[in-house]
Amino acid sequence: MERVSSKEEARSAVLAARREGKRIGLVPTMGALHDGHLSLVRASRKRADYTAVSIFVNPTQFGDAADLNAYPRNLEHDLSLLVAEGVDLVFAPSVGAMYAADAQVVVSPGPLADMWEGASRPGHFEGVCTVVTKLLNIIRPDLAFFGEKDYQQLKVIGRLVRDLDEPTTIVGCPIVRERDGLAMSSRNALLSPTERGEAVALCEALEAAAQAVAWGERDIATIESALAEEFASRPSLELDYAALVDPETLAPLREAGSLSGPARVILAARLGSVRLIDNAAIAPIE
Ligand code: PAF
Repeated sequence: MERVSSKEEARSAVLAARREGKRIGLVPTMGALHDGHLSLVRASRKRADYTAVSIFVNPTQFGDAADLNAYPRNLEHDLSLLVAEGVDLVFAPSVGAMYAADAQVVVSPGPLADMWEGASRPGHFEGVCTVVTKLLNIIRPDLAFFGEKDYQQLKVIGRLVRDLDEPTTIVGCPIVRERDGLAMSSRNALLSPTERGEAVALCEALEAAAQAVAWGERDIATIESALAEEFASRPSLELDYAALVDPETLAPLREAGSLSGPARVILAARLGSVRLIDNAAIAPIE
C-alpha cells in the first residue's frame, strides 16, 4: 500500500494505475475507520482494480471548532486496517496541502442541502461538496463509494456529479450496524457508556416506523408520532428531526397525508455533545 500526502503524489500514483488500464475506485473518508468504512473499501475492491482511500478531516464541513477538534483521529490504526484490506493508495493530506491559504472558491450544493442536516449544520454541505469535488479532481476515479448512513450527503453528491458533469459513478453502500442495531459512525466513539446504551433508540425508532407500516399504518403523521415516541421516553436524547421523506428529493411527505410509495425515514438526535443520524428505506406493500 502506497501512502501519500501531496496532491501531486496522489495524481501520479493513480495515473500509473490508469496507464495499466486499471479501473479506479475512491473511498473518501475522514478516518477513525470502522466496519462501515471497510465495507466501502470492500465494495471498491470488488468493483474496481485499484482502490484509493482518502483520509482527511475536512475543516470546511464543520461549523463548530469544538466539533472539529473533538472529531476522532487515529491515522496509524486506520493505515493498518487499510493494509489488511488490500488498499492500493492512501491519500492523507494536511489541511495546508489540501487548501491554498487564500482559497475562496467553493461548490454550492443547492436547495437539497438546505434541509435536514443542512438546516442544523449551516455550510456543512458546501464544505462536503467542495472537498469531494477536489478529491474527484485529484484522483479522477471511475467509481466513488459513499455510505447510506449519510443519506442526504449521498443524494447531494449524486446531484453534484450530475450537475457538474463529473465523470465518476457514485456508488451508495448499505448502512453497517453494531450488534444492537446502532449505525456505525466515527462519532460513536465519543459517546459515554450511558449514552451508548441510549443511542440504540435511533434504530429502534426506525424499526418502530417500519413495523407500523408493516402492520398497515399509512397515515404519515401517525408514523412520525411513533418515531417521536421512541425519543419521548428517553430524556437524554434530544430529537432534532424525524421524518418520512421522498427518497430522491428529501421533501417531507407529511403533506401527502398517507404513504403511497417508497419513502425514507430520516432522523437526527443529540446525546450530550454528540449528534447522531440514521435512516431506513420504507416501502408500503399492498
Ligand atoms: O462522509 C464523510 O466522511 C465526509 O463527509 C467525506 C465524504 C469524506 C467528505 O469529507
